This record gives sequence, structure tokens and C-alpha cells, in this order.
Amino acid sequence: MNLNRGYLIVFEGIDGSGKSGHSELLGEYLAHKGFGVLQLSEPTKGRWGMKIRDVLANGRRGLTPEDELQLFINDRKEDVANNINPALAQNKVVLLDRYYFSTAAYQGALGLDPDAICRENETFAPAPDLVLLFHCPPEECLRRIKKSRGSFSSFEKLEYLKKVQDIFATFTRPEIKRIDSNRPKDTVHGHVVSEVNALLQIE
Ligand code: TYD
Repeated sequence: MNLNRGYLIVFEGIDGSGKSGHSELLGEYLAHKGFGVLQLSEPTKGRWGMKIRDVLANGRRGLTPEDELQLFINDRKEDVANNINPALAQNKVVLLDRYYFSTAAYQGALGLDPDAICRENETFAPAPDLVLLFHCPPEECLRRIKKSRGSFSSFEKLEYLKKVQDIFATFTRPEIKRIDSNRPKDTVHGHVVSEVNALLQIE
């Protein structure tokens, strides 16, 4: 299945909202249809991503919101240059688990300006064709995380996630499609597939 350009499809939502699993399911669906697919996630496993994972695991320990924002931006600049842009240039479908809407919402929830964060990111990060914004009550998301992992990071505290979700809810661009993920997995996958079929004009 040859496309005449690359497509960037982004999965966003709070921790436990199911976006990562659904990104993988969509990858399998598209590969089965014969599309060239690249699956990525942020934070990456690169040098900046490893610093971020240290903060996630061990807490912020005096790191300012501005410093934290810079870590995510540095990580994304490398991801765009090394992975995202080359795959788009090869007309692939890039499935990206978290992008700068996460930065606007999570670092916005620390008191930074979400609009300014989006603008800064858009100076170097390509605009997505589709943003699938997963929505599920934070209490249910934490229940799912506890069931699968048994513990939370400081990024996954209920009050913080509520603020993050409230900021996600303010995003109104036409490429953002809301997915209610408090439904059975097959139903959610069906919704994701219908949005992607419309984008890629799959019958
Ligand atoms: P997550 O997708 O949960 O990664 P993993 O499943 O590999 O642990 O992302 C880790 C955390 O990073 C998550 O709580 C959201 C946070 N985050 C930000 O705060 N800002 C960002 O820009 C990104 C990409 C993630």
C-alpha cells in the first residue's frame, strides 16, 4: 500500500487511558493492510529520555518546571530529527505514543502556559495529521495502572492527572478526535480504526 506522503498519527491522554495498547493494535491493523508503519513513543529511550525516566522513577528532587519542560523538548528535537522526519519522508505512517500535547498538558499542569508550550514545539515539530485524544476518568485510569503495575509515579497522582486531563479537554483543534476509552477494548479499537480509515481513505 503506497502513500503519496507520510502521515503522523498521535495518541494522547493521561496515564492509564489505554493509548499505548491501542497504538500497538492500530499498528498491527495497518501493517496487516500493507502500510509501512513506524511505531514510536515519547519520552524516547535516547539520552534525554533516560534523564526523564530518572525523574519519573525517582521524583523531581528540585527540578524546576522550566527545566523539566526543557528535557521533554530536547528529547522531542532528537526524535523529530532522527526518527519522525525521516519516516515521514519515506511516506510511512508514524504512530506516536505522546507528543507535544502531553507537554502542554503535563507541564502546563505544573503552572506553565500550555499555548506557549505548543507554539514553542511547533517551531521544530511537524504538525500531526490526526490526534487521538483518549479520555477516561482519572480514578479508573489509576485503577488500571495499579492493576497492571502495582504502583504509581509522581506523574500519576490523582490530583495531578485531573489537572492534566482538564488541560487536554481545552484543546479544540479540528485534527484532535476524542476517544472515550472507558468502553470495551474492541469498541475503542473500532472507533480508532474508523478515524484512521477516514484519514487514509481505507475502504
Ligand atoms: P508514558 O507514556 O507513561 O511512558 P511509559 O509508559 O514508558 O512509562 O510517559 C511517561 C510520563 O511522562 C507520563 O506520566 C507523562 C509524562 N510526559 C510529560 O510530562 N510530558 C511530555 O511531554 C511527555 C511526552 C510525557
